[in-house]
Amino acid sequence: MTDTLHWNDQGQPISNHFDDIYFSTENGLAETNYVFLQQNNLQQRFSNLSENSVFTIAETGFGTGLNFLACCALWEQTAPKTAQLHFVSTEKYPLTKHTIAQAATLWPELQTHTSSLLKVYPNTIPLNQTIRSTEQADYYRFQVTPTIYLSLLIGDATLGLKQLLARTLLETETPDILPAETQNPKSTSYETDSRQWRGVDAWFLDGFAPSKNPDMWTPELFATIKKLSYIKTTIATFTAAGVVKRGLLSEGFTLKKVPGYGKKREMLTAEYPQQSAQKNTPTHQNLTNEAGITPSPQKIKTTQRLSTWALINNYQTVPTGTKIAIIGGGLAGSHTAHALAKKGYQITLFEKADTLAAGASGNAQGIVYGKLSASGDPLGEMNRYSLRYAQSFYSDYWRRDSKHPTTNNKEDKNNIDAGNACGVLQLSLTEKIQQAHRKIANEVVNDTDNLRHVSAEEASLIANTRIDYHALYFPKLGWINPPKLCEWLIQHPNISIVSHTEITELQQHGTQWRLHTRSTENDNSSTQIFDAVVIANAYDATQFTQTNTLPVKQIRGQVSHYPSTDIPEQLNTVVCGKAYIAPASQGMHCLGASFNLHNDNPALDPVDHQHNIHNIAQQTPDIIDRYDYIPTNDDIKQKTAKLDGRASFRCVTPDYLPIVGAVPIDAELHTRFGALRKNGRQTINIAGSYYPRLYINIGHGSRGLAYTPLCSEILANLIQGSPPPIPQYLIQKLSPARFTIRDMIRTP
Ligand SMILES: Cc1cc2nc3c(=O)[nH]c(=O)nc-3n(C[C@H](O)[C@H](O)[C@H](O)COP(=O)(O)OP(=O)(O)OC[C@H]3O[C@@H](n4cnc5c(N)ncnc54)[C@H](O)[C@@H]3O)c2cc1C
Ligand SMILES: C[S@@+](CC[C@H](N)C(=O)[O-])C[C@H]1O[C@@H](n2cnc3c(N)ncnc32)[C@H](O)[C@@H]1O
Repeated sequence: MTDTLHWNDQGQPISNHFDDIYFSTENGLAETNYVFLQQNNLQQRFSNLSENSVFTIAETGFGTGLNFLACCALWEQTAPKTAQLHFVSTEKYPLTKHTIAQAATLWPELQTHTSSLLKVYPNTIPLNQTIRSTEQADYYRFQVTPTIYLSLLIGDATLGLKQLLARTLLETETPDILPAETQNPKSTSYETDSRQWRGVDAWFLDGFAPSKNPDMWTPELFATIKKLSYIKTTIATFTAAGVVKRGLLSEGFTLKKVPGYGKKREMLTAEYPQQSAQKNTPTHQNLTNEAGITPSPQKIKTTQRLSTWALINNYQTVPTGTKIAIIGGGLAGSHTAHALAKKGYQITLFEKADTLAAGASGNAQGIVYGKLSASGDPLGEMNRYSLRYAQSFYSDYWRRDSKHPTTNNKEDKNNIDAGNACGVLQLSLTEKIQQAHRKIANEVVNDTDNLRHVSAEEASLIANTRIDYHALYFPKLGWINPPKLCEWLIQHPNISIVSHTEITELQQHGTQWRLHTRSTENDNSSTQIFDAVVIANAYDATQFTQTNTLPVKQIRGQVSHYPSTDIPEQLNTVVCGKAYIAPASQGMHCLGASFNLHNDNPALDPVDHQHNIHNIAQQTPDIIDRYDYIPTNDDIKQKTAKLDGRASFRCVTPDYLPIVGAVPIDAELHTRFGALRKNGRQTINIAGSYYPRLYINIGHGSRGLAYTPLCSEILANLIQGSPPPIPQYLIQKLSPARFTIRDMIRTP
C-alpha cells in the first residue's frame, strides 16, 4: 500500500485524494492544542478525573495521529495515574508507519508519545477486501501506554462509528427501569442507550474541509455522533462550514462559534442537547437497579428488525475499584483477571485445583492459531480479530523473557520454555484448503507483514524440515506454555488467587452476589460476597443454576511429549495441519492434539499417541522418522505406551464461537421472546433479560490461546463501560443468550 499524500516544500503533508492539508501550515501542534484540546476543555476535565476512571475521545480522521499524540501528552501531564484514556479514531486512508514517523519529526516535543505509538502501529494497515465488500469498517485496538488505548476504525467514518453501536435506533415508551425519583411521568418516549457503554466524552471532528470532502460530513455521520454521545459530551471542530453547523443543529446539539486558529475566522464547539438529555438519557446511576431486581422489559419502538434480545442495558457496568470474583484459573479466568485488574477492579480468582491452569490450559506447549475463513463469516472474522489482538497482546509476553532467542542458536532455543514467537505454518492439506488459504492471505487479510501463503519449498525452508504442502505462514505468531502464561497474567497487585477452592453455588444478594465456596483440601464450606462475578470455569459452568442450560460439550484431547535430543536439526517454527508440533522446549516437543467426543477417561491413551504420531509423520516426515515411530511398525503400541503426555477436556460450543457476555435469565428470555416460536422472523420490541453483574467467558474450544485475550478485553470493556475492542455485531455473535433464542426460532 502506498501512502495517499505528498510533502510540500515546507515538509508538510498534503493529501492527494483531497488536495488539502493535514494540519495548519502555520503550526499544526498549536492548532490541535487550541481547536481540539482547549475547546473541549480537556486540561481541566482530565485533571478532574478520579483514579481508575475512563475518558473516551472519538475523532473523525486519524491522519498522521497528531491530535492523538498531543492528547496523549496532555493526558500524561494532567490525568490521574490510574485513569484510562480510550481514543477512538476513524480513518479511510490509513498512512504507513513510515509516513507517520516522518510527519512526527515535525513535533520533537511529542517524541515520547510518538515512540509509544510507533511501537504498536503496524508497518501498513491494509484495506481488507472482504470487509469492504460487506460494508464494514476494519477494527484495530492498540494499547499505546499502560493507560492509553487507541482504537482505529479503518474505513468511512460513519461506517466505523456505527460499529460501536449495538443498535442504530432504539426508543422506549416505558422508561420503567428508572428509579422512581428520576422518572419523569410525563415522558412518553426516550432514546435508549444503544451503545452498551457509556459513550464519547469529547469529539474531535477533523477530516478535511467539507468543501473538499463532502462525502464524510453526512447527516448520517451527525446522527451516529449523537447516538454515541451522552449528557456530558462535548464536540470541537476546526470548521464552521454550514453543513457541519446544520448537521449538529439537526441532532439538537447546542452550538457555539469561537474564533478559529490562525487565519481561520471561526470554528465550532458543541454540547449535548441538555434538555432532552436530562429527561431522556439513561445514565449508569439511574439505570442501576438498587433493589437487585432485574429491570422490567423495555418496549422498543423501531423501524428496523433488530435482535433486541442481545441488548444489555447500562446497569451491567460496574464501578471501578469494586470487588469482582472470577471462577476458574485457566486461560479464560487468568486473562479476565488481568484485563479487569488493569482497569482498576479488585479481583479474587477462585480455582478448585491446587494451581492455576489445572484443566485444558495445563499443557506444556499450546499454539496461538485460529481458523480464518475466506468468506468473512462471523467465525472467520472472530478468528481474524482474535489472532490480531493475541499477536499484539502476546508480543509483550514473548518479549519479556530475557532468554527470548534472537538467534538460531540451539542451546539458546532449548532454554525457552515459556513460549516463542517462532512463526506458525498452517498447512494447506488439500487443493480446496489451498485455494481458500490463498484467498485468505491475498484478499481477506491482505497483510504480508503478518500472513503469507507460501509454497511447500518455502515452508520447508522456513520450518527447517521437509514439508510437502503449501501453507499459510504467520511469521509473528508462535507457541506458549499456558501455565506459565497464566502465572504471568495474574502478577498484578489487584489480583488475589484463592486456590483449592471450588465455587459450588451463586446467589443474587441485592445488587451483589453471594458465592458458596468449598475447600478441596478439607471440604470446609463458607460464603463470600462480591459486587460482580465472572464465570470462567469452562464446561463446569453447567454446574450453576444460572448457566446450566448452556449447550456446551466436553471434548477430550491428548498431547504427546517427544524427547527432542535425537533430532540433529532444529525445527524452526510451529507446523500445524491435522496435528501440530512446536519447536522443542525443555527437551521435548509437545505434539497435539487428539479430539475425542466419546471418551471421558482422563488417563493417557496409547491410541491417541498413535493418532498424534501418525498425523505428524504425514506433515513433517523427517521429524517423526528420526524417532522410528512410524505407525506401520509392529512395536508402535509398545513404544507409544511409554510416551508421556497429557489429557484434558476442551469446552466446545455448537457454533465453535466462545460464550462471552452477561448471563441471560433464561426463563425470562423464554417469556419475552416466546413469540419467536411462531414466527422466528418477527421483530420483538423488548430488550433481553440479564442477571445484573453476572458475566461469563467460556467455550474456547481448541483455540483458547487466541480467543481468551480478546474475549477477556471484550468483557472488561463491557463491565467498565468503555468502547468495545471489536465491532458490536460480532460481540453479539458471542452472546450467551444466542442459543436460547436460536432454539425458540427452530423449535416451534
Ligand atoms: C489436548 C489439548 C490441546 C490443546 N491445544 C491448544 C493449542 O495448541 N492452542 C490453543 O489455543 N488451544 C489449545 N487447546 C484449547 C485450550 O487449551 C482451551 O481452549 C483453554 O485452555 C480453555 O481455557 P479455560 O480457562 O476456558 O478452561 P480450563 O483451562 O479448563 O480452566 C477452567 C478452570 O476452572 C476450574 N474450575 C472448574 N470449576 C470450578 C469451580 N466450580 N470453582 C473453581 N474452579 C473451578 C478448573 O479447575 C480449571 O482450572 C487445547 C486443548 C486440549 C484439551
Ligand atoms: C485533516 S486530516 C486529519 C488530521 C489528523 N487528525 C491528524 O492529527 O493528523 C483528515 C483525515 O481524514 C481522513 N478522512 C477523509 N475522509 C474520511 C472518511 N470519510 N472517513 C474516515 N476518514 C476520512 C483522511 O484520510 C485524513 O487522514
